[in-house]
Amino acid sequence: MLKTFSAAAVLLGASLAAAAQPALVSYDSAAKTFRLDGGGASYVFGVNSRGELQQLYWGGRLGATDTFPQAAPLPEWASFDSSYNNTPQEYAGWGAGLFAEPALKVTFADGNRDLVLHYASHTVKANGFDVVLKDVKRKVAVTLHYSVDPESGILARWATIENGEALSVTVEQAAAAAWALPPAHYTLNYLTGRWAGEWTLNQEAVRQGARVIESRRGSTGHQANPWFAIAAGAAQEEQGEVWFGALAWSGSWRITVEQDQLDQVRVTGGFNPFDFGYVLHPGQTLETPIFYGGYSANGMGGASRLLHHFELAHVLPRTAATEGQPLPRPRPVIYNSWEATEFAVTEAGQMELAEKAAALGIDRFVMDDGWFGQRKDDHAGLGDWYVNKEKFPNGLKPLIDKVHALRMDFGLWVEPEMVNPNSDLYRKHPEWVLNFPQRPRTEQRNQMILNLARPDVRAYVLGFLDKLLTENDIAFLKWDYNRNWSEPGWDQLAPAEQKKVYVEFTRNLYAILAELRHRHPKVEIESCSGGGGRVDLGILRYTDEVWPSDNTDPFDRLTMQDGFTYAYTPQVMMAWVTDSPHWLNKRTTTLTYRMLSSMQGSLGIGANISKWSAEEAATAKTLIAAYHQVQPTIVQGDLYRLISPQDGSEFSATQTVRADKGQSVVFAFIHSTQEKRGFPRLKLKGLDPAAQYTISPIEGKALAGSPEAASGAWWMNHGLEMDADFRGDF
Ligand code: GLA
Repeated sequence: MLKTFSAAAVLLGASLAAAAQPALVSYDSAAKTFRLDGGGASYVFGVNSRGELQQLYWGGRLGATDTFPQAAPLPEWASFDSSYNNTPQEYAGWGAGLFAEPALKVTFADGNRDLVLHYASHTVKANGFDVVLKDVKRKVAVTLHYSVDPESGILARWATIENGEALSVTVEQAAAAAWALPPAHYTLNYLTGRWAGEWTLNQEAVRQGARVIESRRGSTGHQANPWFAIAAGAAQEEQGEVWFGALAWSGSWRITVEQDQLDQVRVTGGFNPFDFGYVLHPGQTLETPIFYGGYSANGMGGASRLLHHFELAHVLPRTAATEGQPLPRPRPVIYNSWEATEFAVTEAGQMELAEKAAALGIDRFVMDDGWFGQRKDDHAGLGDWYVNKEKFPNGLKPLIDKVHALRMDFGLWVEPEMVNPNSDLYRKHPEWVLNFPQRPRTEQRNQMILNLARPDVRAYVLGFLDKLLTENDIAFLKWDYNRNWSEPGWDQLAPAEQKKVYVEFTRNLYAILAELRHRHPKVEIESCSGGGGRVDLGILRYTDEVWPSDNTDPFDRLTMQDGFTYAYTPQVMMAWVTDSPHWLNKRTTTLTYRMLSSMQGSLGIGANISKWSAEEAATAKTLIAAYHQVQPTIVQGDLYRLISPQDGSEFSATQTVRADKGQSVVFAFIHSTQEKRGFPRLKLKGLDPAAQYTISPIEGKALAGSPEAASGAWWMNHGLEMDADFRGDF
């Protein structure tokens, strides 16, 4: 059931909304402390008496005049844990008896592996600092970059490592940042999954030892996502302190959450040190990814609302149409043909689907896999990015023209980093794939991975995509990536240098995306990797949306979407309505249920709509029109999880509130009611208590038991009552 609320009166609260406080960045030269304030958070660190950079405070915003004394290193613990090991450092080198996770570990040309970083200098920037650390003996310098978002208090932290030695240095481990929390009881939240089962929210007590969440796969991965949230005590949805972070990197990554022998908690994240080795020649630098971190005093819900807004305002890219706008535009409602046709795309078939899609009120028509090379199934064609003449005798233009005539824009599926051995490209360039010479080349889904770190491969990929976008009026690319790495060799380089592939591959991916956006500023891009295998704040700087999962079962999606939105804004969460019974679980659901499940994110239709009845088409058309009306509130408003769908819950419900509090949308779902239980009364959140809100049910009938209009205070304190007959399955 979808209910919309509109404020009938001018909102009193709107004029009271305070402008964001200016970011406060201050350095106390007497105490040698650095302080960053933004939103409801403060972050403080300082130079301790030994010269190390020590974390001092991360939490709720402190008073403007509050100060800290100079940081004091923690004492030695008997003779087994040195002061260096016990002291929570901002960026600890591995040396001097460090047993905690190091931020940086290097090997020098002479075999020395000891690295102890001390403060050297700093510069104050508009919203942050650059702090330079240097090894106590050798010319290795690290610049720690800090910047704070004045509105949310979310910090961006990353590091640049520079080799000033006369000989090369190998970086074996490099974090973007380390975060620290004092001893207390905490709950760690993190997301794991698998293909067709992404976005499982895990919650566990933080205990002594380390919990490692990571990808060794060369890309972000379905199996774990680079996001964490640590709650004080038990994690609660709307109460309590939460510290959270997200790593902006789409290559192999690692986040280590460890509680040390003194119960202190440290979170260290960056490049995955597994199989890592980045040679820095004299004068060279290595820049790490960004590790964002934030603090909320309003529970897990508060943490995700901060992240959502931050992602919309500061991470997601802009197109020509939204350049300079405060937020990117909500996603067009798409139709995608994949589940309807799989590889059997033809000009006539796509045109027929396009006509049906246009009649539903779809904004964008996307042709998926199967249109290029000798692509009849997943055994051939990847790498050959020319139009298949049997399927499209006159190229893509007739289809694109037809889609435009139907007042939709056109999108196309590509998988640029991949190659089938059965392709012209592989026959011509077998040396282009990731491989170790004279070793087997493991295939997955019958494909191998082009080594995007190679300059020639980078140029090829950029070249064919640029040509495709130049020659065709394409508004959107669904950029797929359907396997993980094996044999990650880069045989153009000397053996010691080859592990650079872990950094350069991902950097070249970003560079290609950035260049394409620059050359084609109207084009929008989706990050897909067999579903949600490449979703992170790194790729989201260059892509407008993501495909969270190949699992489109509308009931499974409720829990997946719940997990997803802890880390990512609903705006990027594409959600297609597909056919019932669903191919994965054989579950039968009504079209309305499927539509409403998908309407919680950015709506799409992926069903075989040529088989839909007139009644189904009418239902979809009505709901798409309703969605268009309230979409900005759903995907850009403040999200409240009223009833969690996790753990087989009988019920679930979410609510979103527009920034001006003038509109709110509530979704309520039943799994299977038991023992004649009715839907719990929903106490809404985030409304203006003094404003009048009128219910606009999309069915056009009032909810029995609820007034048609009442104050925000009523909806929040008394709550919204569902119809008594709102019971059953799905
Ligand atoms: C992946 C994607 C699907 C579809 C297929 C096409 O599995 O996640 O949505 O595009 O590839 O081969």
